[in-house]
Amino acid sequence: MRTYRVAIVGTGGIAAVHADNLARTGGRAELVAACDVDQGRLDAFAGQHGIEGRYLNLADLLAGAKPDIVHLCTPPMFHIDQAIECLEAGVHVLSEKPPALSLADFDRLEKAQAKGGAQFSCVFQHRFGDASAAAKELIGAAEFGRPLVARCDTLWYRPDSYWDLPWRGTWNAEGGGPTMGHGIHQFDLLLHLLGPWEEVTAIATRQDRATSTEDLSAALVRFENGAVATIVNSLLSPRETSEIRIDCEFATVELSHLYGYSTDNWTITAAPGHEEQVNNAWTGQPLERGSGHSAQFLAMYAALDAGRPLPAGADSARQTLELAAAIYASAFTGTPVRRGDIVPGHPFYAGMDGEGLGAEVLDATALRAARA
Ligand SMILES: NC(=O)c1ccc[n+]([C@@H]2O[C@H](COP(=O)([O-])OP(=O)(O)OC[C@H]3O[C@@H](n4cnc5c(N)ncnc54)[C@H](O)[C@@H]3O)[C@@H](O)[C@H]2O)c1
Repeated sequence: MRTYRVAIVGTGGIAAVHADNLARTGGRAELVAACDVDQGRLDAFAGQHGIEGRYLNLADLLAGAKPDIVHLCTPPMFHIDQAIECLEAGVHVLSEKPPALSLADFDRLEKAQAKGGAQFSCVFQHRFGDASAAAKELIGAAEFGRPLVARCDTLWYRPDSYWDLPWRGTWNAEGGGPTMGHGIHQFDLLLHLLGPWEEVTAIATRQDRATSTEDLSAALVRFENGAVATIVNSLLSPRETSEIRIDCEFATVELSHLYGYSTDNWTITAAPGHEEQVNNAWTGQPLERGSGHSAQFLAMYAALDAGRPLPAGADSARQTLELAAAIYASAFTGTPVRRGDIVPGHPFYAGMDGEGLGAEVLDATALRAARA
């Protein structure tokens, strides 16, 4: 088991969570360097976390600090170019979400990974609690049975002041609203639990907030295994909650939390007559660790130690990004979208707003609402 040399790029809000969680990996990681374009923020962060290497740009950090892994904690529009720069230098990348602003951008990763031999992974920390591993094991297996119907709600509340940060709420900088920026965590977990999605029909709308993207989306998704799910991503909901519910043949699996869970946030309900089989199956699983960044970091180190592909790697991160693109495509064209439809040449391949269609549709809807 080696100790990995880690660097953090972007030393704002989420970087502190990364630094704190790196300190909880039991010595598996050494935080050797940090980078920010803002010298004041960089110095404050490095001072607080005892980091020696301080850099104002990524190229200097890669050359000077020689990290094994770079954590990208920069605003969304920088993720893909910075990921490619690291991968081409042979350095593994753990990028904050969203992994890219479009499928076209994301697909540039493949060449960079092949060139440098390093791997990309996206922060999807909800996949990594013990209870989600247990649920993944049992959903679709004999004990819980086939998943039939599901719902996945990210119902959060953000006042207008939330969009004061310049990169928030624009297609160019963030790639979308709550679908790309907030609900993506929750529906990533849904996909992790249910497997590949097949077809989506969606609405995305701007109900109330002073943003140029949607502030609400709602989708109806059919999965390859036949399950049907609704997904709602809202920034308008005063009682905030993040929830997943999956009804299988013999058990209902429910997760209710906000930004992260412990096993206590999960509830399993057996169908009548199936109590013993369902309860024994659930309590027979390891159920200690909650979700969180450190759980993902440790899973990443275990994969690197063993020479395995990284968890939440490029392939599965792409499936989640593809569902986000398909939600927008369906919402703004008014038609169902199937997995695999959004390929080069499709308007939603190059960007989540379909070459300006999203902005047009949202403006028209907002105008209609204002007149009513
Ligand atoms: N996984 C989660 O639960 C979670 C939670 C919050 C935010 N995020 C994601 O984390 C990312 C950062 O969010 P935040 O709230 O920390 O943003 P932030 O604005 O607080 O911090 C971003 C930092 O990056 C720096 N920066 C900007 N351009 C840079 C560049 N080219 N090179 C180096 N540094 C640069 C800024 O100066 C700033 O210090 C976003 O993608 C966001 O979606 C993830």
